[in-house]
Amino acid sequence: MIYVECFMLIMVTCFVSMSLGDIGDVAEAPMIGHDSNGLDTSWYDARATFYGDVHGVGTQQGACGYGDLFKQGYGLETAALSTALFNNGYTCGACYEIMCTRAPQWCWPGSIKITATNFCPPDYTKTRDIWCNPPQKHFDLSQPMFLKIAKYRAGVVPVRYRRIPCAKAGGVKFELKGNPYFLIVLPYNVGGAGDIKYVQVKGTRTGWITMSKNWGQNWTTGVVLTGQGLSLRITTSDGITKDFINVVPPSWGFGQTFDGKFNF
Ligand SMILES: *[C@@H]1O[C@H](CO)[C@@H](O)[C@H](O)[C@H]1NC(C)=O
Repeated sequence: MIYVECFMLIMVTCFVSMSLGDIGDVAEAPMIGHDSNGLDTSWYDARATFYGDVHGVGTQQGACGYGDLFKQGYGLETAALSTALFNNGYTCGACYEIMCTRAPQWCWPGSIKITATNFCPPDYTKTRDIWCNPPQKHFDLSQPMFLKIAKYRAGVVPVRYRRIPCAKAGGVKFELKGNPYFLIVLPYNVGGAGDIKYVQVKGTRTGWITMSKNWGQNWTTGVVLTGQGLSLRITTSDGITKDFINVVPPSWGFGQTFDGKFNF
């Protein structure tokens, strides 16, 4: 029995050091915590790299469906998430605090706060430096955010991260896209938990219609709603629901954005 346990311990130790090389282990026990609304704010381990240039060129648009991140209020404080964190786009809009850890030669002290605005896709053609492949938790930060926590030359660093409530200025915004037969609503600048699990829309002549999530945060319905004023009902991942009543006037058009006036 004791022999078996010892053997297993050696196996595990070997495996961890083999697979993680010299950038530190990612198996520290999380520090458990919850904010008052039930968001899991425990610290976990991951890694971080960067993409795009110093001005955030290369980080715009992306798999969440957001557009000009500066106009939409996200700025440079953004990251692309690996499959393990992206959750098929349900995590888009979530906010994280991230600090570089366990690499004293590469890390700066302090932490950054970012919003998830993109997806870091897996690459199954490479056999090394495949940080975004499942099951690894990985943040591909905008370059300016990476440089606040680590040196450029590090390339990749071990980090600790936790979910934090999103502090957003102004109301939730709703961008309407698509065509008369396929309405797309993109909610952005979402405070509180920040990530959305459920969206409903109501025309002045309809009841509440449940929208389905496409890739990212594009929520859609095939119900024709042109010419009707619209209300939106948003539920964030922590279970909080808010109704944005008549935020869209009947004269709305595709490509327009409307202000929900308040936030989570
Ligand atoms: C969201 O919808 C817009 C408008 O159709 C489209 O251009 C964009 O590619 C979509 N984004 C995602 C991530 O699905």
